[in-house]
Amino acid sequence: PQDGPLRGKRVVITAGPTREPIDPVRYISNHSSGKMGYALAAAARDAGANVVLVSGPVSIPVPAGVELRSVVTAEDMLRESMAAVDAGSDVFIATAAVADYRPETCAGDKIKKTRETLSLDLVKNPDTLATVAARPDAPFSVGFAAETNDVDRYALDKMARKKLDMIVANDVSTPGMGFNSDNNAVTVFWSDGREHIGPDTKRNIATRLVALISQHLETNS
Ligand code: PMT
Repeated sequence: PQDGPLRGKRVVITAGPTREPIDPVRYISNHSSGKMGYALAAAARDAGANVVLVSGPVSIPVPAGVELRSVVTAEDMLRESMAAVDAGSDVFIATAAVADYRPETCAGDKIKKTRETLSLDLVKNPDTLATVAARPDAPFSVGFAAETNDVDRYALDKMARKKLDMIVANDVSTPGMGFNSDNNAVTVFWSDGREHIGPDTKRNIATRLVALISQHLETNS
């Protein structure tokens, strides 16, 4: 590992979308490309950390030196993230766009289009970030909040509800920012402060976020 403010620290990052199967050929998902999470993995590695990347299905390369745990569903993401945190972690960063709901059952065979309407019963998925942050041995926990309106208010509410140390609010209503693009603009909140970063590349935003996380990790320990 490189020398840097996170030298010797273990950082677990979730990234990408999840896929929730409807039948053998279909699923529910979203537009997350994994770019923000992968940029953070590279930035944390460059700061000296040992990085585990728990990633949903994406089509971008894994940064060199980063350990990949591939997952598909939200339930897989919870299981792999808890296993990574069990092995010891100092920081947990959740950039993944996890499907909030999954079909209650996955049809064994391909659903045929014989009916005019089709209803799916959805059930709530487990929340990986909230589960990690609620552990007695919780690492420094950082969430993301992609919102289209009242961004700051919803982000602060999520930080309190999920008991996070830091939250990164992402206004995804601006074209060219947020989901599936190379650029982003975010506001980071912690218990007694905030900082706006961007618009900038996700890689540069990731570098600044890692610097902020490193600073707060020092003051927390
Ligand atoms: O992947 P990219 O194309 O680069 O896009 C990046 C991004 C826009 C997906 C990313 O920057 C982002 O904002 N991710 C959070 C998406 C989101 O809407 O999160 P949320 O508001 O549903 O959840 C809040 C937090 O809880 C997030 O940290 C999320 O990872 C976590 N969560 C949510 C639900 C769940 N079941 N498990 C979780 O861990």
